[in-house]
Amino acid sequence: MPMIVTIDNLKPGMILARPLMGSGAQVLLSAGAVLDDKTIRKLARRGIEACFIALDGEHISADVSAPLPESLERMRDKMRGILDAVASNRSIRRTAIQEIQELIQEIIDDVCSDPNAVLCGIGTIAEHDHYTLEHSVGVMVAALVLAKRAGERELLRLETPGYRNLGMGALFHDIGKMMLPLDVLNKRTPLDPREWEMVRRHPLEGLRIVRQFDIISPMSRAVVLNHHQHWDGKGYGGYEGRRILGKRIPVLVRIVSIADSYDAMVSNRPYREAYLPAEAVRIVRDGAGSMFDPELAALIGDVAVSYPSGSILALGNGLLVAVIEEDRTMKDKPVCLVLASFVESGSEMPGRAVDLRKSQETICFGVTSIVNLKARMEQLLREKTPCPFLDAIRKESGGSLPPLYAVSNWDVLLQKTFPPEFRSLLTLHNPM
Ligand SMILES: [Fe+2]
Repeated sequence: MPMIVTIDNLKPGMILARPLMGSGAQVLLSAGAVLDDKTIRKLARRGIEACFIALDGEHISADVSAPLPESLERMRDKMRGILDAVASNRSIRRTAIQEIQELIQEIIDDVCSDPNAVLCGIGTIAEHDHYTLEHSVGVMVAALVLAKRAGERELLRLETPGYRNLGMGALFHDIGKMMLPLDVLNKRTPLDPREWEMVRRHPLEGLRIVRQFDIISPMSRAVVLNHHQHWDGKGYGGYEGRRILGKRIPVLVRIVSIADSYDAMVSNRPYREAYLPAEAVRIVRDGAGSMFDPELAALIGDVAVSYPSGSILALGNGLLVAVIEEDRTMKDKPVCLVLASFVESGSEMPGRAVDLRKSQETICFGVTSIVNLKARMEQLLREKTPCPFLDAIRKESGGSLPPLYAVSNWDVLLQKTFPPEFRSLLTLHNPM
């Protein structure tokens, strides 16, 4: 059983027991990585709050190490240069686009040769230094994985050039956004009509940029121009705002449209916290037949891991747990580690594993990080949403001070995280 250690308590030499995920299917560090000072500082800068650390002699299972980290890291470096060039009005080298295309081929080979390719990342990065960059790479991976699944279900037959067109289109789909002022791009409040008009132009601006390069195919350009067209003919984009709908929207565009929405939902944005994949899958499915191609939208649940490792879940009995093992067949029933509990000892005490496959306990809500836990609890309280987890805490407290026990180091974090209404009621103890 791994330990969950907060960032302030990580020490050089500790070994990661689970991969550390970025958004989409991106892996920041693989399971088995040995931490050093530099890496710990880098994780702190990226807003990572805690990691699963292997105990001495613990076996680290190979199948928890996710694919793609190295090629995606190189892709990020190359794309960063291109996006920065667009934002500062510098010209893009043709060789840079060529290098990107070669890297995409490597990623396609990885995705297509991995029988278990899934989207298991969550938006653990609290502060994106470059959201468009992370989003572009996340959408590319999601689109490739979704296309592969559609092929397996015989909804689509893509050969290598098709995958390459899809990857390039997905990677460059939002490049037109680099022309927007940063205060519009990162605005926390609703856009005014003038700003909204600017945003609506980004597919066309994107097309203007990508058509300078003959190496970016007409099909990839169509993805850039049309990725905000909806299945029902609503949405925006297209030449002079021309709408297309249903199967008239090229299939690669329909795939990127789903991948784009999905990746945006599982990422933190200035105006809202990241959703867990389980929630993003539900929202994509709700959009089947209106926003999205219904057959393709139905596949997103197949390729997304509902509750990836590291997600924090609030259970109906008042337990707060962290996911340590995803079950690829029973996706809504992960194995978790108790972070905080009302009992000091026994099977539900902090530090114990809870296997939801064997339990009737319901998941009330889940979040991608401790920062988001605070925001979500405050939202539930504000909107007075019925929530068995909060009810369980209220019941336990009964007006007095219930001892809520937490795993080592987490008592301080949770004390900061709980909204004031609960903070005054709870005393966190560390049973170890
Ligand atoms: Fe877009």
